[in-house]
Amino acid sequence: MSSSVPVGVAEVHPSVLEKIYALSEEGQDIWHRFDAEVRQDHFHPFVPADYSRVQAALVALRAPGLKFLEWGSATGVITIMADLLGFEAYGIECDAQLVEVARELARKFGSNARFAAGSFLPTGYAWRPRDGDGRLGTIGEGSSGYLELGHPLEDFDLVYGYPWGGEEPMMHDLMRCYGGRAARLLIHGTSGGVQVYRDGRLEP
Ligand SMILES: C[S@@+](CC[C@H](N)C(=O)[O-])C[C@H]1O[C@@H](n2cnc3c(N)ncnc32)[C@H](O)[C@@H]1O
Repeated sequence: MSSSVPVGVAEVHPSVLEKIYALSEEGQDIWHRFDAEVRQDHFHPFVPADYSRVQAALVALRAPGLKFLEWGSATGVITIMADLLGFEAYGIECDAQLVEVARELARKFGSNARFAAGSFLPTGYAWRPRDGDGRLGTIGEGSSGYLELGHPLEDFDLVYGYPWGGEEPMMHDLMRCYGGRAARLLIHGTSGGVQVYRDGRLEP
């Protein structure tokens, strides 16, 4: 974990912003094809974030040496974006075919983003909310991806997730149980905004 100071919006080089724009456009194209070819026939939990809002949140928080993790990285757009913005960026996704798409996209954009096929739930984690309803919703179960990443959850400074409605409490619990002490959790809400939490509290 690093305690670096954010460097700010103005310092993002225009060439990086152009690359991120092209990446987001390509991500949208991939999503439209995925929606038509895969989601047409059966449910799949992948729906893409509002990339420009996530970009704004990452730009505001970027600082040298920070490690970023995306939970459920799908086609990898956000993890690659984080890498282009200077984070050491990693993604975990349980759909191995999407992980291949993400790796190919990273190659295309000259990104060093790293991806693991597996679950972002650490081995042994169990969701036990107070009301007793520990269903995971659309969150898939499977072998944990952290071993392949080479980092446990506590190593990351920023963790980003886009939960379906009702799944946020589990993500907060996961951070409480396994997250780094000063880590931030970025949650993409179902209405499109990105909220930043530290120690379970919403940051202004
Ligand atoms: C709502 S989509 C968000 C995609 C991307 N993070 C974004 O913000 O654009 C959730 C993604 O999480 C993946 N996922 C669900 N459960 C998972 C798990 N336990 N481990 C890893 N990925 C998971 C799904 O396959 C899907 O790609």
